[in-house]
Amino acid sequence: MSQPEATGPKLNWNIKELLMWATGYLEKKGSPSPRLDVELLLTEVLQVARIQLYVQFERILQTPEKDRFRALLTRRGQGEPIAYILGRKGFMSYDFVVTPEVLIPRADTECLVEAVLQDHQHITGSLRILDAGTGSGCILLSLLKERPNDVGIGWDISQAALKVAQHNALQLKIPPQKLTLSCRDMTLPESWQLEDPVQILVSNPPYIAFEEEPGLSLNVRNYEPRQALFAPDSGVFFYKKIEAYAWKLLAPGARVYVEIGHQQASQVAEIFSTPAWHQTRFIPDLQGINRVLATTYTGIPPR
Ligand SMILES: C[S@@+](CC[C@H](N)C(=O)[O-])C[C@H]1O[C@@H](n2cnc3c(N)ncnc32)[C@H](O)[C@@H]1O
Repeated sequence: MSQPEATGPKLNWNIKELLMWATGYLEKKGSPSPRLDVELLLTEVLQVARIQLYVQFERILQTPEKDRFRALLTRRGQGEPIAYILGRKGFMSYDFVVTPEVLIPRADTECLVEAVLQDHQHITGSLRILDAGTGSGCILLSLLKERPNDVGIGWDISQAALKVAQHNALQLKIPPQKLTLSCRDMTLPESWQLEDPVQILVSNPPYIAFEEEPGLSLNVRNYEPRQALFAPDSGVFFYKKIEAYAWKLLAPGARVYVEIGHQQASQVAEIFSTPAWHQTRFIPDLQGINRVLATTYTGIPPR
């Protein structure tokens, strides 16, 4: 793999020159956001705010800064997502630590969080929220930040992901007594047991069908955890499990919010069409695509 030669024959690179040169380099490598990527990498290396890159246009980079920038730029040029390079990603208004063991939080998932907040804004008492497949914890921890009286339970099958979620909880100063993280397989009926019922269930489960893998971008395919991405049964396996087992933990009237793939709306609505669920609706994402199915438990077990 060829390395960027920003530190080749030319010795003294200033920020402006590096911005221009490195943007062209990433453009050729196929990055969809080359300028932004370079700005983020430079702010990381120089430990300055983005605006400072423009204020300090003429600043010459020191050799260690140049070397570090080149190393990060090479990784980006090879397709590694910027969030894994920086080790963090913004979601809602919070910064989440991310490692290659967790899915990078997506902006589209914010509509799930916003829907939960909106639907429960009149309830200030303490609700119990379960997040099945919590990953970095971005959904659950954002909800707990916005609804500090609530209690959160996060499940994941990956111990490594749970460590990241725990780390994020500490960073975001979530009181330990407000959060329980545990390793559970949501596809097993015996996992769905808790001492007390929950009023809100959220989940962004793996939902990409294995058949769709060839069409995924290399950034996703080569770097994000397969366990967080793919699901059997044309991608709807996890919704079937949630539909079949979640009621055991839900109080009648409890709400369920599941993120869905862009072509899964009718299939997932069909899954949640048993007498256990009513008031089912879709919530669109920023592009107007149905991204979340929200439904309410009637109190009648599905079968
Ligand atoms: C699509 S990611 C979502 C992560 C995070 N909630 C988000 O929205 O960014 C799905 C998560 O489900 C977890 N997962 C996969 N299979 C699981 C299972 N059988 N039981 C529990 N969690 C599972 C993965 O490890 C991953 O963290």
